[in-house]
Amino acid sequence: MKKRIFSGAQPTGSLHIGNYLGALKNWVSLQNEFESFFCIVNLHAITLPQDPQILKQKTLDLARIYLASGIDPEVSTIFIQSDVSEHAELAWVLNCIARMGELERMTQFKDKSKGKTERVGAGLLTYPVLMASDILLYQTDLVPIGQDQKQHLELTRDVAERFNRDFGETFKIPEAFIPPVGAKIQSLAEPAKKMSKSDENLNGSIFLLDDADTITKKMKKAVTDSGTEITFDNSRPAINNLLTIYQLMTGKTAEECEANFAGKGYGHFKTETAEAVIEYLRPFQDRVKNYTGEELKIILKNGAEKAKTIARETLNDVYEKMGIVGAIN
Ligand code: AMP
Ligand code: TRP
Repeated sequence: MKKRIFSGAQPTGSLHIGNYLGALKNWVSLQNEFESFFCIVNLHAITLPQDPQILKQKTLDLARIYLASGIDPEVSTIFIQSDVSEHAELAWVLNCIARMGELERMTQFKDKSKGKTERVGAGLLTYPVLMASDILLYQTDLVPIGQDQKQHLELTRDVAERFNRDFGETFKIPEAFIPPVGAKIQSLAEPAKKMSKSDENLNGSIFLLDDADTITKKMKKAVTDSGTEITFDNSRPAINNLLTIYQLMTGKTAEECEANFAGKGYGHFKTETAEAVIEYLRPFQDRVKNYTGEELKIILKNGAEKAKTIARETLNDVYEKMGIVGAIN
């Protein structure tokens, strides 16, 4: 029996190379080795206000992006979170297991709610519980994510262990898969911050659908560190970040990357890195336009049906263990 992986991304904003290098790229390379589930987490998206029409569009766009990245619907299960109502049901149950204190300690919640707890929805606080439900419904072994989701995965494990302790063995305890390189791609404009979909400064992120001109311009504007060396050096975060992007886009080793730029200037380095990104994204960008709405609907419907069978089994077990018994079923 193959081990299982589960991961997801939110259909908000535009996906950037951080999302790709930190997550999607690894989903693609792991999908054959594992039984894989990739979810479009539209219920997570509404933890912050969304325009309904745009959310609808972005949900299908994200399915296109998954497919164009190389996720093969013949191999992996791709589905929309809201199609499998068990996610929301288990989230309610686990909301009663997770502790307020542990949710309030999540750094993402603290960042997003800072100074405005009267104005943000309670869903922002319970967001990691929905994520835990996503993962635990499938008895997941491995969760490929970027560094920013590590804390949420730890919470998932804590909640699952607590449930198992109190109600008997029910959930598999999942492990995080965080890539050794690329788990935290930084903003090109402010290298101390992660590249983020919600960043207002668009020059900080290279989006997967940016055209060649835009990529070249953003790369030229990218902030650099003082000095002239082009080497992997954590104390020089801007150059380190650009070199990491170059490395992942070209598939070269760290030594080969450094050797390639030895004695060269920042101008040359940026041009070559921009070219590597453009070349890397070109086939992806060609493929993204390939899928019709009809094709997507079929893939997503099949995916949801397959996911639902597994999710229901876990949820029934949870209800049974907790004594949640209705009159109908
Ligand atoms: P999201 O679209 O925000 O749901 O994120 C989807 C995936 O991308 C998650 O696994 C994140 O951890 C990952 N991710 C987001 N931003 C970055 C970044 N700057 N570098 C690496 N991975 C990231
Ligand atoms: N919270 C994740 C993010 O913002 C997205 C997500 C939701 C997820 N459910 C998940 C990732 C389950 C991995 C597994 O990036």
